[in-house]
Amino acid sequence: MPSEIILIAAVTVDGFIAKNNKDKTKWTQDLHLFKKQTMGHPVIMGSNTHNILSKDLPGRELIIIHRDDDPEKTINNITSERCFIAGGGNIYYRFYQFLTHLYITPHPHIFGKGVSLFSENVNGSNLVFEKIIEVSKENGIYQYQYRVDK
Ligand SMILES: NC(=O)c1ccc[n+]([C@@H]2O[C@H](COP(=O)([O-])OP(=O)(O)OC[C@H]3O[C@@H](n4cnc5c(N)ncnc54)[C@H](OP(=O)(O)O)[C@@H]3O)[C@@H](O)[C@H]2O)c1
Repeated sequence: MPSEIILIAAVTVDGFIAKNNKDKTKWTQDLHLFKKQTMGHPVIMGSNTHNILSKDLPGRELIIIHRDDDPEKTINNITSERCFIAGGGNIYYRFYQFLTHLYITPHPHIFGKGVSLFSENVNGSNLVFEKIIEVSKENGIYQYQYRVDK
């Protein structure tokens, strides 16, 4: 089991990750950072996200999750020290209990409705700030890295 299980997401100010389940999220500005950070690590994603993003992600072990997959077994089968949970909302929700870190990049948008970070309610967690990374200074976009306080 990896010692770091990292949720990585771009979110709007009102907590959405997409306008709808087929949204190509062209509004995000952190794809270059996502590619750099996930390179060489297993990346877990749902089938919807895979259909949208797969062409953008060569060089990584992609683990595609379907409805009958067991998140715990998936995590236990990973031998690397670090893996990423790359969405969408269904997968963020199903892997929530295993997260050790969250890398969140708020973007200057309000969608009002859409795909939430977590597709269903989750128990609250306290997060400990670890690091901030500049994505676009001129647009005020930064990635916030948190550790889950377990
Ligand atoms: N902003 C970001 O950082 C970010 C990151 C990733 C994704 N996204 C966006 O998020 C959106 C996709 O999110 P999503 O939550 O729709 O999809 P998803 O999490 O990528 O994939 C859907 C998952 O739900 C399962 N599922 C479908 N119907 C189900 C059912 N009735 N019962 C149980 N499980 C079911 C699917 O399994 P099956 O394969 O068996 O159907 C699959 O595992 C896209 O717009 C994508 O662009 C945004």
